[in-house]
Amino acid sequence: MGDMRGPGWDDYAAEYEAVHEPLTGQFAARALDFVPVGVGDRVLDVAAGPGTLTVLAAQRGASVVGIDNSPRMIRRLNERLRAGGYTEFEGRIADAARLDFADASFDAAFCVLGIMVIADYQAALAEMARVIKPGGCAAVVMWSGLEHMEHVQVWLGAVAAAFPQFRPSPPPPSWAVLQDATSLRGVIEAAGFAEVTVHTETCRWDIASPAWFARHGDLSPAAEALYRSVGPEARPAVRRELERQLRERYGDGRFQLAAEAHIAIGRRHYRGA
Ligand SMILES: C[S@@+](CC[C@H](N)C(=O)[O-])C[C@H]1O[C@@H](n2cnc3c(N)ncnc32)[C@H](O)[C@@H]1O
Repeated sequence: MGDMRGPGWDDYAAEYEAVHEPLTGQFAARALDFVPVGVGDRVLDVAAGPGTLTVLAAQRGASVVGIDNSPRMIRRLNERLRAGGYTEFEGRIADAARLDFADASFDAAFCVLGIMVIADYQAALAEMARVIKPGGCAAVVMWSGLEHMEHVQVWLGAVAAAFPQFRPSPPPPSWAVLQDATSLRGVIEAAGFAEVTVHTETCRWDIASPAWFARHGDLSPAAEALYRSVGPEARPAVRRELERQLRERYGDGRFQLAAEAHIAIGRRHYRGA
């Protein structure tokens, strides 16, 4: 994926578990609190990454399939399932907007912090609705906005200090729809779900040190795109400034950054409903 558009999530598969999962895994666990799964349940994890929720669902005894369009994420997901002894489950490379599963073949489906990076998110939600059995549930986790993501705010603060003339581009238009609880509920209902509820939750990313966060907190396609648009000096300058600001605020040791996300739950209509 290292093409003209710059790196994609595939390029971060190796570091994802160490860097992002300590935060995204907390939201995955909360999604499983709202939609509990266990032995006998067939579960789909959409935009699974390296298996953040897939592995948690397998540990709870569910029969789980993780899909992602990143081959390296899926390779890592399958390694983790094998390492955990869940040899009967699997990850598959697939586009969330075109799933190769039969109608009504899952008891539950999840999409944790992936919906905003899926190009055709409406199609992905419709596919989740298609493959869930009537009465089964979906959980979709979506950030409630960049302003509620402290890890993004501290990084943007360092960008602004290092390059005061530079104006970062806003997130893609899909964010405006998906980060708002009311419109998120609307798109999930439009995809074929009923009884949709949205729960707004805060998790805290426990970070080893300012030096660690300055080196790793920017491992994402969005940060990479910004560095590319500023120029080659951007990454080291932003990282230096970020570490300086974080040290000033938190000292040299551990600290926490809070992030808020919506967990939207919907039930698949019964046939004819
Ligand atoms: C931020 S990661 C989230 C991973 C994991 N669900 C978690 O919570 O840690 C977003 C994932 O969406 C995947 N993705 C993006 N577009 C996709 C698509 N059209 N179909 C399937 N997966 C997609 C990326 O490859 C990436 O692994």
